[in-house]
Amino acid sequence: MSDATVFPVPENLAEKAWVDESRYLQMYQQSVEDPEAFWAKHGKRIHWFKPFTKVKDINFGPEDVHIRWYEDGTTNVCYNCIDRHLPTKKDDTAIIWEGDDPSEHEYITYGQLYDHVCRFANALKARGVKKGDRVTIYMPMIPEATYAMLACARIGAVHSIVFGGFSPDALAGRIQGCQSNCVITADEGLRGGKSIPLKANADKALESCPGVDTVFVVKRTGGNISWNDKRDVWWHEACEAADNSCPAEEMNAEDPLFILYTSGSTGQPKGVLHTTGGYLVYASMTHKYVFDYHDGDIYWCTADVGWITGHSYIVYGPLTNGATTLVFEGVPNYPSASRFWEVCDKHKVNIFYTAPTAIRALMREGLAAVKKTSRSSLRLLGSVGEPINPEAWMWYHEVVGEGRCPIVDTWWQTETGGILITPLPGATPLKPGSATRPFFGVKPLLVDNDGNTLEGATEGNLCLSDSWPGQMRSVYGDHERFIQTYFSTYKGLYFTGDGCRRDEDGYYWITGRVDDVINVSGHRMGTAEVESALVAHPKVAEAAVVGYPHDIKGQGIYTYVTLNLGEEPSDELRKELVTWVRKEIGPIATPDLLQWAPGLPKTRSGKIMRRILRKIAENDYGSLGDTSTLADPSVVDDLIENRMNR
Ligand code: PRX
Repeated sequence: MSDATVFPVPENLAEKAWVDESRYLQMYQQSVEDPEAFWAKHGKRIHWFKPFTKVKDINFGPEDVHIRWYEDGTTNVCYNCIDRHLPTKKDDTAIIWEGDDPSEHEYITYGQLYDHVCRFANALKARGVKKGDRVTIYMPMIPEATYAMLACARIGAVHSIVFGGFSPDALAGRIQGCQSNCVITADEGLRGGKSIPLKANADKALESCPGVDTVFVVKRTGGNISWNDKRDVWWHEACEAADNSCPAEEMNAEDPLFILYTSGSTGQPKGVLHTTGGYLVYASMTHKYVFDYHDGDIYWCTADVGWITGHSYIVYGPLTNGATTLVFEGVPNYPSASRFWEVCDKHKVNIFYTAPTAIRALMREGLAAVKKTSRSSLRLLGSVGEPINPEAWMWYHEVVGEGRCPIVDTWWQTETGGILITPLPGATPLKPGSATRPFFGVKPLLVDNDGNTLEGATEGNLCLSDSWPGQMRSVYGDHERFIQTYFSTYKGLYFTGDGCRRDEDGYYWITGRVDDVINVSGHRMGTAEVESALVAHPKVAEAAVVGYPHDIKGQGIYTYVTLNLGEEPSDELRKELVTWVRKEIGPIATPDLLQWAPGLPKTRSGKIMRRILRKIAENDYGSLGDTSTLADPSVVDDLIENRMNR
């Protein structure tokens, strides 16, 4: 291989893994040469009530875009995640729940999972929730969050999970966006020893959501909450009253399974729509091969169910495979920076999947916090959400995995439903920082800005030239926006928004977003969202937001703010604006740096030149490029002079 640092597949691993290198190459070739045959075969990995006869029907545009997989088959996601395993795994652990406080944990068997999910499915029905209705889930990482998802899937309701860190406003926008009539939440969440007022936030959000007639509330902390008798229902009371068996609704493969809101480069977050059959085939298949999951393994993905990683790789993929999946309520550094590794020891975790930002934060805490734990159960490590810098990769590999565990650096997106570019542990020699090679059926393509295909070792915009079963089907309620966002930049191709390099060995290296999306601690954010939160403040005239390199978060949020005439900049106002954004969107959108800008660099037609703002934030003035087209070039000097220090 061309690059100096290559980690070969450990020999003992290749033998036991589902696929070794020659098998990968063979399967990959089959998958792209005859996708119909390949996906017909692998589509059978899930249980179908009525088998499909059609495999794929895809059109990537330009005019019409449609994506259909297994379209005449019928199935049920919840049935695949639970019922199918009952004959052989009723008493096996489906979920290990580890609480925020290390003294709390729970093992939930497949049999118990069936009971919990059926009861809650009946509770939903008793409140009138039916097939096709949208249900918003705003919950902490407790077992009930997974029961809620599965219960919706069981009765054919479409869930939309909103991350518990989002503000009441953000929650309200998402409830209105998909017109949910039912919300599921908890009294409070617990993270790092602190409580999060979920019910109070939901109450606030619902002031502007009159369509919601039911709020199920899990009693997590027993904290004080207000109550609306007509609307609010205790989870435990509803489940006690409900029957413990509930038929799984027969769903068409292309019926919606869930909506998940995600940020883009323009406008408000979009409701990414995933459907039933193809999504489940893809989530379960990637879970099996990428994590080389074998029966008996203990698997832990540290994500939150509020993100796509939680949907596909805490709940749907693992449970379809009959796996034991760990659900963690807490944070990496509570009560100490050893927590992740202590949980690995406590539950004998074999496969561990986390984000680079967590690795970098723990790396900073020093070796002792890791070394005091054993981690001997670990066999495989995974990374997701943002590029992993080689230094963090090496630390993960050498310190956490003691050189023994391959790292799967998995590249994918909310839109892709499952992992698209990734090593397979028994098949792929690793290069730190590279997501390596495409998964079966995935056809990456690099194009230049004019859409010309680039061959060989090169760098360009990452597109996909054919569909895979886990691909999103539409933007909920706005198919035109779906076409515009993903299929209009490069004709006939799905455009990911990422930049990417391909090396001499055909390995892919994701370089980050090429649009106005930033990635802060693995959380995806549209700069436009933060800007619109800022300009909603009465003292702000204009705002521009860009990302800048941040040691722990990957990218930090750098904001330029122009105040209304007559308003004076002050440290107090700076704090007020930072708090304002937290309140408007949620703590994940907290600006790291806020600079007063008497003016913003604009073209004569009034367009903000973000390229320049990005360079200033990055402290890279040497390459500001051509500023002659600016309406007033002197604003740039002012911005440079008053740049915020990191
Ligand atoms: O820029 C890529 C980055 O995260 C974006 C997708 O974010 P989201 O939809 O929130 O999903 C995150 C979890 C799947 C991508 O466009 N990204 C994700 N994984 C990687 C990555 N960048 C580099 N390497 C990765 N492994």
